[in-house]
Amino acid sequence: PLTAVVNSHDHLEIGGCDVLELVQQYGSPLYILDEVSLRTACQQYRDAFAKHYQGQSQVLYASKAWSCLAVCAIVSSEGLGIDVVSAGEILTALRAGASPSLIYFHGNNKSIDELSYALESSCTIVVDNWHELKTLDRLAKEQSDIVSFHAPRIMLRLTPGIECHTHEYIQTGHIDSKFGFDPNEIPAVFAFLSESSLNCIGIHAHIGSQIFELQPHQDIGGVMVQWYALAGEKYGLHFSEINIGGGLGIRYVESDDPPSIEEWVKTVSAGVTEAFVTAGLPLPKLLCEPGRSLVGSTCVTAYTIGGRKTVPDIRTYVTIDGGMSDNPRPITYQSKYRAVIADRMGAALSQTVTIAGKHCESGDILIKDIQLPETNAGDTLVVFGTGAYNYSMASNYNRLPKPAAVIVEGGESSLIIKRETREDLLRQDCLPEKLRR
Ligand code: LLP
Repeated sequence: PLTAVVNSHDHLEIGGCDVLELVQQYGSPLYILDEVSLRTACQQYRDAFAKHYQGQSQVLYASKAWSCLAVCAIVSSEGLGIDVVSAGEILTALRAGASPSLIYFHGNNKSIDELSYALESSCTIVVDNWHELKTLDRLAKEQSDIVSFHAPRIMLRLTPGIECHTHEYIQTGHIDSKFGFDPNEIPAVFAFLSESSLNCIGIHAHIGSQIFELQPHQDIGGVMVQWYALAGEKYGLHFSEINIGGGLGIRYVESDDPPSIEEWVKTVSAGVTEAFVTAGLPLPKLLCEPGRSLVGSTCVTAYTIGGRKTVPDIRTYVTIDGGMSDNPRPITYQSKYRAVIADRMGAALSQTVTIAGKHCESGDILIKDIQLPETNAGDTLVVFGTGAYNYSMASNYNRLPKPAAVIVEGGESSLIIKRETREDLLRQDCLPEKLRR
């Protein structure tokens, strides 16, 4: 949970920093990341595995949730590895100081360039499909006469056929999914691997995201162990790791009730342990790759309120200086958020309003029907739970510069991402000679 309090000026304070002062210093909109709560979430995962799983374990941070140097550096310093899905995320993890042996590369259409980069960097590659498997095998064979060659470390991503209840766009474990090998293909894949130049260390599955039920993750061990056992018994492939993906949900609004990190880890550990003990196999190294539940609740976005419009008998719109470009989740997934007015934390909730973004789209509504105290132009609206899939999915729609991000801890703040400038927006534009005037 966020280290947030109301200070003596009745302002919201995060990590010991007055949010209004942060906005004055760094501008608006502003992502504010609470370092202590991010470190705490990392420790909760680590401690829970130490307590509930007898075998080895490794938590990877799914950096798609927020890939930037500071976040990758913090999670690495807490002993986490990093799950990456592009060359850009690999570069970010490496530059942040992550150990290549703890970088796992995912993706359902990795380019040759990305695969070569991952191989050169000694990352583990989570292979998604036949095309990729064959490409990697070819790349490995091409390099196999180099003295320093060692067989690429890979894992296989399987579609586990486990359904979960979350938004359709973020379900991935059901059979009709674009990710991973279909279960029917697995024997042929194992046969191919047993003849290949690749070093397959285990299998991976991911069910979906923002999941509140525990059952799907309880069941995943039972599905994975069958394939794990088959590989060893029939194909001479001796695996040592299984990765059960991420997906634990977080509380965005009061009515959300996700399990705790410890409950989730306890459940997956029990499921995997039972499955492997029943199969008479030693416990594998157990990996998981949470994104949202590590970083989601550790960040807020501060916006400045502009004007308002009242549609008689229907609603009042209150506008802010950002919207779908810095947080595309409401327009994409109808996601809900909680917010406060940081200037008047103790004030009574006196109105129901709709928070509208500044983009040229009617759908650019950040929060529908929220209860707030009286609001004035210039007030600071703080939206909670914006650490995951906000900055990482931000765009420059309508040519808005991306906001800055700061990290706060013990009353100190430091910039972790600079605000884009107007000039930055033109940096990649080219004007051909014939169009110049
Ligand atoms: N591992 C794999 C293979 C994944 O595809 C994902 C998320 C994760 C781990 C991390 O899942 P998490 O622990 O964060 O739930 N943009 C959407 C979420 C997309 C999730 C994609 N994959 C959103 O804003 O809700």
